[in-house]
Amino acid sequence: MSDRLYVFDTTLRDGEQSPGCSMNIDEKMRVAHSLAGLGVDIIEAGFPIASPGDFEAVHRIATEVHGPKIAGLARAAVKDIERAGLAVRPAGDNARIHTFIATSPIHMEAKLRMSPDQVLERAVDAVTQARSLVPEVEFSAEDAGRSEIDFLCRIVEAVIKAGARVINIPDTVGYMTPDEFGYRIRTLIEKVPNSDQAIFSVHCHNDLGLAVANSLAAVENGARQVECTMNGLGERAGNASLEEIVMIMKTRSDRYDIETGIDTTKIVPTSKLVSQITGMNVQPNKAIVGANAFAHESGIHQDGVLKHKKTYEIMTPESVGWTTNRMVLGKHSGRAALKARYLELGVELTDERLIEVIGRFKVLADKKKDIFDEDLMSILSSDSGLETERVKLLSLHAESGTNDVPVATVELDIEGVNHKATSEGDGPIDATFKAIKSLVEPKGKLLLYAVNAITVGTDAQGEVTVRLQDGDRIVNGQGADTDIIVASAQALICALNKLPNMHANAVHAQYSGV
Ligand code: KIV
Ligand code: ZN
Repeated sequence: MSDRLYVFDTTLRDGEQSPGCSMNIDEKMRVAHSLAGLGVDIIEAGFPIASPGDFEAVHRIATEVHGPKIAGLARAAVKDIERAGLAVRPAGDNARIHTFIATSPIHMEAKLRMSPDQVLERAVDAVTQARSLVPEVEFSAEDAGRSEIDFLCRIVEAVIKAGARVINIPDTVGYMTPDEFGYRIRTLIEKVPNSDQAIFSVHCHNDLGLAVANSLAAVENGARQVECTMNGLGERAGNASLEEIVMIMKTRSDRYDIETGIDTTKIVPTSKLVSQITGMNVQPNKAIVGANAFAHESGIHQDGVLKHKKTYEIMTPESVGWTTNRMVLGKHSGRAALKARYLELGVELTDERLIEVIGRFKVLADKKKDIFDEDLMSILSSDSGLETERVKLLSLHAESGTNDVPVATVELDIEGVNHKATSEGDGPIDATFKAIKSLVEPKGKLLLYAVNAITVGTDAQGEVTVRLQDGDRIVNGQGADTDIIVASAQALICALNKLPNMHANAVHAQYSGV
């Protein structure tokens, strides 16, 4: 019997802490459902004390997402734990509070200004309080990688005694090397007298590119929960990447003999969803989920793969969810097939949502001969599913040429009223953005404009991500269309719709719409 490794996904918490990766509640719900379909054991849904929006997201996920345990993060502080307990409560037996406090000398002295004994007492109190609210408590010793091992043993023993059943050892700053981190985990398991009453977990950051290697070293030394994120998102250089850890376990089962509960064929669709929603494109040469991860370019490699796939492929693209499947549905085909294909891609559509999606599918099928799975996923991401869209694109006309000044005219519906503007720009996209921005307030500062071809061919849809900043709020918008200028306008409008105080620019004349 092989051992079981629990996959704790923190895309929605640590992943969301990546600069510019914040998601709205509907986006978090879609990611959470996708993670549940992927088969993760625990979803860390957020940090409930951080904001009312974070609380609501964790609460909704705990209410609506079934299967995985739902964890809410809390500092070792009474109010944090109360909020986390309330937020995860709807998950019932699957509710978990994840409480943490820093244990390294530099964090205790410079950040917390607390002595080790005070930190230990606070940790025990936090676990005791959390244990009175939910069935399962996880304790993290923040910056455990740089903590003194004797103090770490002492605090771990105390919190297990207080009721923590998962002990997480984070390498918060990504400082460890695999040998020393593995040794640290083994030392804890061997030295802490009650270590058999808890599952040991690790949470590795990737500052030196060692997050996955350090996680593996920990697993080799007895850790049975790994904290990780889709596409390796997370603070600074990110966290250990879920897809890499899972596929190492599967591909090298000869070495690890440890199973995860992940349905690996859902990895790529989930990765794409996360990258579309966060606007964090996956680098093409990223292991498992990068566009080139299974592309064979050199003649020698292509020849080898044609003769026998295993010459250059240690896992199949299908096993991680890369498909060459095409929708053979035309614009007259039925909704059942579309619904079924989405289901195969891990997306369950309500009948109401299906009607909206079919509308977009048919518009696309009019423009594009082959509809790929990637196109289907982009239909979902450009259709936010929000009924609260305050700005809608009614029409767009852009002109450019070698000897012309680029000019764009846009017509927007802003909260039910038509507005129209024409602007010149450095190119048709710049002109389009200027025209749109002249009609709204606030306009937001453009932090990112990125274009990706979703599939191959000149009729491929271009997928555009726009990131805007208004004060301390950063929002992402996505758009996809076979016309890159339309996709850009959609992406900008999608981002503007996420700015809570966005409204029509009063100085701009309204337009009758005729
Ligand atoms: O990196 C870290 O230490 C964390 C903890 C809150 C687990 O994210
Ligand atoms: Zn972290």
